[in-house]
Amino acid sequence: MSEHGTAAEVEQEAFVRGVLEGFYRDGEPPWDSGVTPPELVALVEGSGSPAPGRALELGCGTGTNAVYLARHGWRVAAVDLVELAVRQAREKAEAAGADVTVLCGDVTRLDEVGVPGPYDLFFDLSCYCGIPPHRRDAYAAGLTRRAAPGARLLMFGYGPGAFDDSWSGVTADELRTRFTGWRLADVTPGTNPVPTFWFTLVRDSAPA
Ligand SMILES: C[S@@+](CC[C@H](N)C(=O)[O-])C[C@H]1O[C@@H](n2cnc3c(N)ncnc32)[C@H](O)[C@@H]1O
Repeated sequence: MSEHGTAAEVEQEAFVRGVLEGFYRDGEPPWDSGVTPPELVALVEGSGSPAPGRALELGCGTGTNAVYLARHGWRVAAVDLVELAVRQAREKAEAAGADVTVLCGDVTRLDEVGVPGPYDLFFDLSCYCGIPPHRRDAYAAGLTRRAAPGARLLMFGYGPGAFDDSWSGVTADELRTRFTGWRLADVTPGTNPVPTFWFTLVRDSAPA
């Protein structure tokens, strides 16, 4: 076992990265709709929306939602593992005249990425659910260290069994257990043909 985990864990991370890079290399990855989901629009523009603050998008892909947040007054940093996605996100932000800091890096290793925070909003549109299980504690810890008191995490995730593997997916119970110092404030099922969920977590206002 190396500092990066067991050989199997290292191999799994490399496999996932390779699959993701392949999607972008082939062009038009299936998730890249270019449309901001109504759940994010409701949070940003709905009644009782928080005042714009600092936002961090995890697994931003080609940047559609980072640009949307910036256009609505948020100071946005966005991170993705795949260099090609990052390049496209930067181009999209530039074309839109949106001030977004797009960084290439691993959201489970945020200390290496240069996003010190604190952030008031974290947004994750089907990134966490595809992160190998052995890296998920590090994801939660990274967000927790960067969360302003009362920060929100809005996450969309596929449930277990949505894909043809034994490990991807996310459940409410998992998030409750893993995100210490956060409250799972809402779980709303998605409308996809396979199990999907919108989760809202809120960081305790007075972290211990
Ligand atoms: C299903 S795609 C969704 C992309 C984007 N959120 C969207 O909806 O268009 C998941 C994204 O998360 C990124 N990703 C996966 N694991 C990551 C990691 N450990 N660190 C940073 N990005 C990651 C992938 O490269 C990919 O762009």
